[in-house]
Amino acid sequence: MKNIATNISLQPYNSFGIDALARHFVSAESLEEIQEILDWNKIHQQRLLVLGGGSNVLFTHDYDGLVLQNNVKGISIIQEDDNHVYIKAMAGENWHSFVQYCVNNKYQGIENLSLIPGNVGASPMQNIGAYGVEIKDVFYSLEALHLPDGELVNFTHNQCRFGYRESIFKQSLRNQFLIVSVTFKLRKRPKFTVSYGNIEQALEEMGVTELSIEAIANAVIKIRRSKLPDPSTVGNAGSFFKNPVIHQTFYEALQKLYPGIPGFPGNDKFMTKVPAAWLIEQTGWKGYRKGDAGCYPMQPLVLVNYGKATGTEIYALSSEIIESVQEKFGILLEREVNIY
Ligand code: EPU
Repeated sequence: MKNIATNISLQPYNSFGIDALARHFVSAESLEEIQEILDWNKIHQQRLLVLGGGSNVLFTHDYDGLVLQNNVKGISIIQEDDNHVYIKAMAGENWHSFVQYCVNNKYQGIENLSLIPGNVGASPMQNIGAYGVEIKDVFYSLEALHLPDGELVNFTHNQCRFGYRESIFKQSLRNQFLIVSVTFKLRKRPKFTVSYGNIEQALEEMGVTELSIEAIANAVIKIRRSKLPDPSTVGNAGSFFKNPVIHQTFYEALQKLYPGIPGFPGNDKFMTKVPAAWLIEQTGWKGYRKGDAGCYPMQPLVLVNYGKATGTEIYALSSEIIESVQEKFGILLEREVNIY
């Protein structure tokens, strides 16, 4: 049986670099180990937190329970035809390494999602997205362990109920399942997405004349490196807030007051997505720093830990930002990061 450690600092296991303690901590390298650990927990009845890359969590206090880091790795092709490859990655695979693997093998579909921190297992949980592509566009199925009885369950695309940074695993099935593997349906005949933001501009700057999977991955990497902090140097969890989606009539009213307010089509024609980065910048928080907690100067949607900030300090800053934005624009920002 795997050793379950006691009173372990979670600092190396969360990209914010918050120094919180886990009452119990264990890292699992195989499905069998996960099952053994869950059996142990049937007896010990600890509150359970499954951690992947730790890139979407903020610890505001010590975790009084068992933290299980899913470190199960492996990539395999389960089926392929002339047009598609169905590729299965175990949840503990690092997301960016998996993207690179697909880029190198010319499997197209996730190159726009290069350099997103975290592991494969968390990707469907919050339907990660960037530069015009979301997991739901390439997702085929996933396997997950039902925590109460240890049963392995298959989920189809429909069953995951994907939405903007949402899935059933953040809603009605929250804390019910541990994602074991994810299968993606990638293309052998590319269909590129380059219309978002400044991808075309980056490709041009790089002197790219013919689109390729690799060129797009490199363009995305270049853009991300230029404005997002690297968690290995500055603690962060990517976007701290979701971009709010508001009713079109409300958006039009705001436009009268703030003619520069950007807006992008929401999920249906009555809704508009407003960049939280803009709202945060307009309320004066961009580049703000108090102690070691800050709002990143290049992308204010990202809150950062410059060194020794506590989770409570980062959380307090996020609350102040939410209040300012609410007061000025009447829009309630929602945190994207999971708070513990
Ligand atoms: N903006 C500002 N000021 C800034 C930066 C941005 O006003 O300093 C405004 C601009 O209007 C800009 C708009 O925000 O056009 C959008 O900015 P950006 O393209 O950087 O994207 P985002 O909406 O802020 C989302 C994702 C990111 C993802 C990018 C690129 C969410 C919550 N965030 O950010 O995802 O990388 O698009 O596709 O949807 C993450 O989830 O961790 C993440 C980094």
